[in-house]
Amino acid sequence: MEWIHHSLPYTISDRMEQLQPDVIVGWLQSSYWAAERSEDTILRSWQDSLCFGVYSTAGLQVGFMRVLTDGATFSWLCDVIVDPGHRGQGLGKWMMAVLVDHPRICHTSIYLGTRDAHGLYEKYGFVRQEMMVRRPAR
Ligand SMILES: CC(C)(COP(=O)(O)OP(=O)(O)OC[C@H]1O[C@@H](n2cnc3c(N)ncnc32)[C@H](O)[C@@H]1OP(=O)(O)O)[C@@H](O)C(=O)NCCC(=O)NCCS
Repeated sequence: MEWIHHSLPYTISDRMEQLQPDVIVGWLQSSYWAAERSEDTILRSWQDSLCFGVYSTAGLQVGFMRVLTDGATFSWLCDVIVDPGHRGQGLGKWMMAVLVDHPRICHTSIYLGTRDAHGLYEKYGFVRQEMMVRRPAR
């Protein structure tokens, strides 16, 4: 599927073949949550995910997010990122609007973890809730 922004020169697509792995791996390895992930781990993490790219009209990748979902009850949103040069103009909010309306996701509870972007997600109906996690042995 593809979404065209009503006023900004960007599109969102969920086509895997459009993703620009070098760009996304660079962002994730500079992020606070995925800095230790190898490129191989990052690429494998996409295989069972719904991945969304944001693209400029010139075809540059400017944003990314991915979702794991069972399509019925549960989704996990992660790796939400917008290129620093394209932040602050509404792309993050547009990504959330697309996500919460997506036909495979809109009927599920969507979970995520964030250090400081609660305010973004709260605009789209997310509420804070305690979670448990089991991390793999190193
Ligand atoms: C978070 C991020 C995706 C937002 O993208 P963006 O395109 O700049 O966001 P938008 O322009 O749509 O605006 C985001 C809105 O959420 C709010 N917000 C709340 N917490 C925020 C945060 N930590 N970072 C950015 N925006 C935040 C902003 O104030 C803004 O609200 P406003 O329109 O009422 O002013 C982007 O800043 C980013 O990639 N940050 C680094 C990676 C990251 O932290 N990802 C989220 C991990 S959970």
